[in-house]
Amino acid sequence: MNTLTITRPDDWHLHLRDGEQLRAVLPYTAKQFARAIVMPNLRPPVVTVDMALAYRDRILAALPEDRKSGFEPLMTLYLTDNTPPSEIVRAKESGAIHGVKLYPAGATTNSDAGVTDLAKCYATLEIMEKMDMPLLVHGEVTDPGIDVFDREKVFIDRILAPLVQRFPGLRIVFEHVTTRDAVQFVRQAPHQIAATITAHHLLLNRNAIFQGGIRPHHYCLPVLKREVHRQALLEAATGGESKFFLGTDSAPHSQAAKESSCGCAGMFTAHAAIELYATAFEQADALDKLEAFASFHGADFYRLPRNRDTIALNKENWIVPQQYEFAAENLIPLYANTVLSWRMA
Ligand code: NCD
Ligand code: ZN
Repeated sequence: MNTLTITRPDDWHLHLRDGEQLRAVLPYTAKQFARAIVMPNLRPPVVTVDMALAYRDRILAALPEDRKSGFEPLMTLYLTDNTPPSEIVRAKESGAIHGVKLYPAGATTNSDAGVTDLAKCYATLEIMEKMDMPLLVHGEVTDPGIDVFDREKVFIDRILAPLVQRFPGLRIVFEHVTTRDAVQFVRQAPHQIAATITAHHLLLNRNAIFQGGIRPHHYCLPVLKREVHRQALLEAATGGESKFFLGTDSAPHSQAAKESSCGCAGMFTAHAAIELYATAFEQADALDKLEAFASFHGADFYRLPRNRDTIALNKENWIVPQQYEFAAENLIPLYANTVLSWRMA
């Protein structure tokens, strides 16, 4: 197969940043995807409808001319201990906000305003359940006593399973799942529970963080896991199951912020997002399953129409650039200086 044509995909989990950084990274996503669920972890976080709508306007203004009408940002609100139920009503009425993101306080980049105790959010979650506003979760506990590789599993047991029980009608996306435990949990959970899977967790296991030395560009959260977990993710992504769909979690940080004594978490993958997924699916001999994962399952879950246009991927070797411009700084992409064998036409 030399060309693979698929319905244009959507990215159901994306960090676009703001200002000059937004202008630097948005074109890569807009070129490939029709829509993206845009994460609200700016500084300060996007906690109100007004902030989300203003951010949406900035994203639309930053779109390249040729994608002005071709790309739609799907906005999210950042859940805090104090998000009032009335804000959910307003979010739903805006038509522009498609999810509310739960970051356990301190779990990841810019998450210090996150939720300290989910019980404080019960009234808000109740309205979300009633109004059919999806909850998007960063599924890791932040308890420093829990090993960093176990934080997703412990989150399932301590937080997510009880949450699903308490709010049986709440639609939940378990974002960027990284473990076999998470895959199993989502599979056996009721139909309103789904998950996104990143390309990097399909392609890499935790050895990549320590390959001949410490590799800051392979550090993200949730952190890469063992090979058995990568295999479980691959099986979920390529199995045709509608609960699993594409979410890149492309999370750009400057080279200086990554290559530091305390480097930031996040991999930039938007430069070659669909190509990276195609590489993973091809390795699993499942290219025929890419379209549903990338273009159908997420739209169906979010109750949005599937896209009508298509993109084509050519079997063609190209070398990922060493770096991209990122405002006045550099951005090192995943697989910098490495040959990829698929390329979007
Ligand atoms: C994300 C970021 O940098 O915003 N980092 C990451 O490693 N994925 C935050 C997140 O999604 O956890
Ligand atoms: Zn993320």
